[in-house]
Amino acid sequence: KKKITAKTLLEMKAAGEKITQMTAYDFTTAGIIDAAGIDSILVGDSASNVMAGNQDTTPITVDQMIYHARAVVRACHHCLVVCDMPFGSYQVSREDGIRNAIRIIKETGAGAVKMEGGKEIADTVKGIVDAGIPVIGHLGLTPQSIHKFGGYGLRAKEDTEAEKLIEDALALDAAGVSGITLEKVPAALANKVTAMVKAATIGIGAGNGTDGQVLVYADALGMTSGFKPKFLRHFANVNKCMTEGVMEYIRCVKSESFPSEAESY
Ligand code: KIV
Ligand code: NA
Repeated sequence: KKKITAKTLLEMKAAGEKITQMTAYDFTTAGIIDAAGIDSILVGDSASNVMAGNQDTTPITVDQMIYHARAVVRACHHCLVVCDMPFGSYQVSREDGIRNAIRIIKETGAGAVKMEGGKEIADTVKGIVDAGIPVIGHLGLTPQSIHKFGGYGLRAKEDTEAEKLIEDALALDAAGVSGITLEKVPAALANKVTAMVKAATIGIGAGNGTDGQVLVYADALGMTSGFKPKFLRHFANVNKCMTEGVMEYIRCVKSESFPSEAESY
């Protein structure tokens, strides 16, 4: 399998081949996901929730994203590694955004960055693309704006917000993004955007018509218990598998069957 780049996403869209993406934040997990044949790993700022236990994605810093992305890049031989730009790293000014994107690419070796927002960041996106860095946009439910939204519900169900989302997608497309993540929007709207843009759309809770799909690995593999929105499917039960393994370890140590003679020096 050849190395996948941001350019490959556009080729896959043209060929009608679905793009598979999952998050990862560490070397060991990324190694498993890359070896399984995924097209892309997103080092999401969801690391704030999944790795650090924060309530939302707003606290994670550029330094912390770089730490996670470096570890993921070291593990990946085939897939495209995309690194989220965290809250505050591109909203202040165009220059600040370009500088932070360059820093992320320089210090991690990731193949693209991802940013939340539409028209309001289109200028910054163009600056980053002009610097030679592939950008993935992110529209719909954009978790860095959680305080504005007031919840993680479905976005763009009303016409005005749907129309704004289409304008935002076209602005990102014109700015030269390679992909657009569409999070928690009606499937019909996601289909419409997918048909309108050159960029590859990658959906999460956006139906089956996008050019690809993305899920947080801990959710997709059933590690997080108690989080099961309608859009999510559990493709494994890692929570059960890990719990059983830990319990078996405890049992063997307590009963003095581990370590055995063969496991001793
Ligand atoms: O941070 C993240 O995991 C994401 C995906 C859910 C798209 O942005
Ligand atoms: Na994210």
